[in-house]
Amino acid sequence: MTKFISAMAALAMVCSLASCGASTSSSQSEPESKPSDTNKTIGIAMPTQDLERWNNDGEYLKKQFEDAGYNVILTYSENDSARQNNDLIELISKDVDLLLVAAVDGESLAKTLDGAAEKGIKVVAYDRLIMNTDAVTYYISFDNTGVGKLQGQFVEEALDLSSTEGPYTIEFVGGDAGDNNAKYFFSGAYNYLSQYINSGKLVIKSGNNEFEKIATKDWASANAQKNMESTLNAYYADQQLDVALCSNDSTALGVTQAIDSSYKGSNSVIVTGQDGDIENLRNIVDGKQSMTVYKNVNDEAAVTFEVCRKILDGEVPAASLVDKLSVDVTYDTDSYNNGKKYIQSYLLAPYVITKDNLQLLVETGLYKWDSNKKYLESATPAEE
Ligand code: BGC
Repeated sequence: MTKFISAMAALAMVCSLASCGASTSSSQSEPESKPSDTNKTIGIAMPTQDLERWNNDGEYLKKQFEDAGYNVILTYSENDSARQNNDLIELISKDVDLLLVAAVDGESLAKTLDGAAEKGIKVVAYDRLIMNTDAVTYYISFDNTGVGKLQGQFVEEALDLSSTEGPYTIEFVGGDAGDNNAKYFFSGAYNYLSQYINSGKLVIKSGNNEFEKIATKDWASANAQKNMESTLNAYYADQQLDVALCSNDSTALGVTQAIDSSYKGSNSVIVTGQDGDIENLRNIVDGKQSMTVYKNVNDEAAVTFEVCRKILDGEVPAASLVDKLSVDVTYDTDSYNNGKKYIQSYLLAPYVITKDNLQLLVETGLYKWDSNKKYLESATPAEE
């Protein structure tokens, strides 16, 4: 009996010092909580392989989870929301332990994901919020309004709006209406520049000053190109266009093509973007695009992994997780309401890249200079 008690006491002591409890002490080297049970499967649903970033996201996420020992099933839905619904139904039927979803159309997944929640499968919204369902537990993204604001600030500085007379012309090019982020990008930029629009210093000749009018189906370059060609022909045949405020790089790509083919003016139009896609970085070097807002998706994947691991361990990630992450991230509980509730969000910080600070991208380890040190290329070639 005595032996038994002392064995228990010894075990309790080991537990409290090292690995058995979830409690954290304030000692300098914080003991790790108990190792995670990694015999679990994560279902990851990404929107499309057409865009550079989602291939990177899928790859980085898969690697994070697999390196830790989890099983991963990764799906892409080619921007087709019906297909993504089917992909999710299949993942649910395979009894995955957690679903990580970057929605094609944030409005169309509620019923399917309610079904996942009923089976006890946790749902995490990745990058894009999923609307009208209680099933979503967490949201990991960037400060989406901040992305637009950075684009607006860039334009303000490039045209020196606070101290010059103007007027200057601007057109907005937004993202897909089914992507909840797209509205935040637009409003972040538009609201930042609205003082200049209201005072007439910035003029939108097309009159397209609402998200619904500037949305680009599927975020596709071809659609952005077509829309911008029409705008240029209708409003800028003999007028100068100063700014094309594009929400991301795929739309910026279409817009620069439209400017190449259909713009008569001789000025170089200020073109914004987002993501740091390789082709756009080439355009930045060549002076066809002015900036991109960079979002390090490797960091987004790393934060996502930590949040999901906690959920899978039955813990509550909450605010304290932020202190343990080496990435600049904010825990936010009152910005993103999905129509049912405010979703606890982890929001990473985006930053501006221009031709003058491309080296910052090299320092992320995800890009490298080409042999002529002129353009950037990916430092993480796609897996075979
Ligand atoms: C992402 C952007 C991306 C866009 C198009 C958005 O939801 O946040 O980074 O450029 O989708 O794929």
